[in-house]
Amino acid sequence: MYIKEIALKNFRNYEEEKADFLPGTCIIQGANGQGKSNLLEAIYNLCFARSFRNLKESDLVCWNKPFYYLQGTIYLQKRFFKVELGYDLLKKRKVMKINGKPARQFRLAEHCPVVFFLPEDLELIRRGPEERRRFLDRELSQENALYADFLSRYNRAVYQKNRVLKEKKLYRETQDLIRPWNRQIVYFGSRIIQMRAHVLSIWSKLASYNYNVLFQNDQKMKIVYNNIIGENAGTAEIEEIEEAFANKLALWENEEWKRGFSLLGPHRDDLTFLLDGREARRFASHGQQRSAVIALKAAQIQLYSEKKEKPLFILDDVFSELDEQRKKQCFLLLHNAEQVFLTVTEKDSFLDSFLEKMNCTSFLQIREGKIREEKRNAAD
Ligand SMILES: Nc1ncnc2c1ncn2[C@@H]1O[C@H](COP(=O)(O)OP(=O)(O)O)[C@@H](O)[C@H]1O
Ligand SMILES: [Mg+2]
Repeated sequence: MYIKEIALKNFRNYEEEKADFLPGTCIIQGANGQGKSNLLEAIYNLCFARSFRNLKESDLVCWNKPFYYLQGTIYLQKRFFKVELGYDLLKKRKVMKINGKPARQFRLAEHCPVVFFLPEDLELIRRGPEERRRFLDRELSQENALYADFLSRYNRAVYQKNRVLKEKKLYRETQDLIRPWNRQIVYFGSRIIQMRAHVLSIWSKLASYNYNVLFQNDQKMKIVYNNIIGENAGTAEIEEIEEAFANKLALWENEEWKRGFSLLGPHRDDLTFLLDGREARRFASHGQQRSAVIALKAAQIQLYSEKKEKPLFILDDVFSELDEQRKKQCFLLLHNAEQVFLTVTEKDSFLDSFLEKMNCTSFLQIREGKIREEKRNAAD
């Protein structure tokens, strides 16, 4: 997949700008605060009809303007799709069109193979379980609409159950009150566990391989999925997961009632990264942790390339965070994507030396929400 063109009107700090792209790498250069991430936000919006930073539609509209409007052409599954998105502040109305026809549900999104790499991802191993869950949910929801649906229903059930548990003093009834919520939690939660287990087992295998190839060592990398079912979650049937989950919940019912909140389920899951069997979070160097994340990103790109088509790879400010060795390995990944958007603040000699190798097809300079295009030819 690739983006052929994009036009922005009143989107964030862009008043009226457009740009054309080719497959290959597009470098977006500009000082801080000029609009690099906003342009990536526009590209993400074209693909998924929503913000990758979870911004509200009204936040996407340029200050003091009544609406935003995005238009673009996406090449996907050997066809061009013309996508239009807009939001009107006054009417509080969002419009989505594909090939000129209003699209109420944005089905295109399910087919878009897009891999994101953000600076916070580099710290994935160091950060808390909540961030790792958010990462997992972001990646899975993007690819699988069913997962996103299960997740929102699951979260709602946990929220409702927690309300009952918190306000239990108001009720004179017994624990029966939480059982209907537990049934929903088991139903949706088991499916979430199964989907997470499935994707993590594949990521773990591929990332482990990449870790050795990219960083030329023989340390064994593994990603373990910590959940209430344990290691079996990857191979278990859905009924088995449901049963085990329901039994555990029944066992913990008194404890949950006493403590006043929901204690187990996918909302407490975590990932553990292991290097040679030791927890990377506690024992690996900062550099090794980042290498493991790069190996995981590489796995995601490979998976898309195998399944559907070569993906779009978006890297926002990742390079400035990496040392030269890791930058080089990261550059190698770019070849596995059909199109790459990467932002940099400076055009330094290191980048220059890689421009040709990474098939740089366009170079944009961003200043105060204005795009200046430096045309490049892939064969240069
Ligand atoms: N809704 C908006 N309308 C106008 N300007 C905005 C809006 N939202 C953010 N900005 C401006 O966009 C700039 C940040 O752009 P960003 O893309 O994050 O920069 P960077 O190039 O560092 O990635 C800030 O200067 C901010 O003031
Ligand atoms: Mg930015």
